[in-house]
Amino acid sequence: MDEAIQTNWVSTVGANIDAVEMEIAAFTGNRYAVALSSGTAALHLATKLAAEKLYGQARTNRGTLAGRKVFASDMTFDASVNPIAYEDGEAVFIDTEYDTWNMSPEALEKAFELFPEVRLVVIAHLYGTPAKMRELKDICDRHGALIVEDAAESLGAKYKLNGQWVETGALGQYNCISFNGNKIITGSTGGMFLTDIKEDAEKVRKWSTQSREAAPWYQHEEIGYNYRMSNITAGIVRGQIPYLEKHIEQKRAIYNRYKEGLKGLPVKMNPFDEENSIPNHWLSCMLIDEGAMAPCARGERDYLYQSDKGKSSPDEVLDALAAFNSEGRPVWKPMHMQPIYRTSPFVTAEGNGRGRTNAYIAGGAADVGADIFRRGLCLPSDSKITEAQQEKVIEIIHRCFL
Ligand SMILES: Cc1ncc(COP(=O)(O)O)c(C=O)c1O
Repeated sequence: MDEAIQTNWVSTVGANIDAVEMEIAAFTGNRYAVALSSGTAALHLATKLAAEKLYGQARTNRGTLAGRKVFASDMTFDASVNPIAYEDGEAVFIDTEYDTWNMSPEALEKAFELFPEVRLVVIAHLYGTPAKMRELKDICDRHGALIVEDAAESLGAKYKLNGQWVETGALGQYNCISFNGNKIITGSTGGMFLTDIKEDAEKVRKWSTQSREAAPWYQHEEIGYNYRMSNITAGIVRGQIPYLEKHIEQKRAIYNRYKEGLKGLPVKMNPFDEENSIPNHWLSCMLIDEGAMAPCARGERDYLYQSDKGKSSPDEVLDALAAFNSEGRPVWKPMHMQPIYRTSPFVTAEGNGRGRTNAYIAGGAADVGADIFRRGLCLPSDSKITEAQQEKVIEIIHRCFL
């Protein structure tokens, strides 16, 4: 970063940008990388590019997904799926599975039965745990659908595909990572688009710098964006890359200490496929067993819970931690439950996830995402947390279940 300032490359060109593109492309196993201002920018351009491949260039004042549906992970940050709306498309949210807390292959299969015309799927790896990519890719291949991979949270996490370890961020046609301040390595902000296709990388680079045509003046034939990473940001990312493995080791140690420390309580850690995946353990989470849930309820912005002997609830645990100045979080509230997406389609392993209960028939409807949101929480996971602080967190959680 200092070098960028000393050499006066304080711009969206420079040696740091070239270096981070080369290093991250090589690390993830992609041929091409385009450094951008955020993971959200990367997801927007990846989604737009996939849409343009599928449906052609849109008119200037229309999104490339106008009138189209896109399947998307449901339990994720809204930045994964908002680009579908930026491009005038409609997200169809695919329910989550319990094994990795990611997109359910069964629900995706059902979604293709309900909406066979869909050709684009946005898949996120939640909290650094790889999704079931072999199953998801097989389904997408069978239906001729492209994958935009949201690896914003999972840089450094690996998945075994056809017997070979592949980095997350190299599992879709277009792949995105984030260098936001809270990620496993950071540029304070920043993101990256990754692909093996040269002309697609060149297109994204062009779009990210206002879509200039080859003319002496600013000439435009398509809509452009100011989405390029700055050479200053790239300097911070470049300085962080050598620490990626160390950060993952720290996060893994945090996860394992929680796993050990919470043994004996009616809770489970966020799970992963031990045979076919190596998470980066970006966030450690826990899920309270159904039988150990104290009465609790959440509104749109507020919550209530009761204390109950031997039981607890995510908000009780979070409040107890907050009282000791320790920050946990609820897990991502699923997109299909969000007010802005309340009218969007939602598909579970049983089929259409909307309107599934019946006033005249007993029983509820499966909704794995809503269940994990109700029973789960993110534990304090900063790599700087000390063992003593973590012991304290573990003790507080134990006391919640007394
Ligand atoms: C799953 C997911 N997707 C996308 C993003 C967006 O990345 P950024 O904050 O760099 O725009 C984030 C995090 O911020 C994220 O967690």
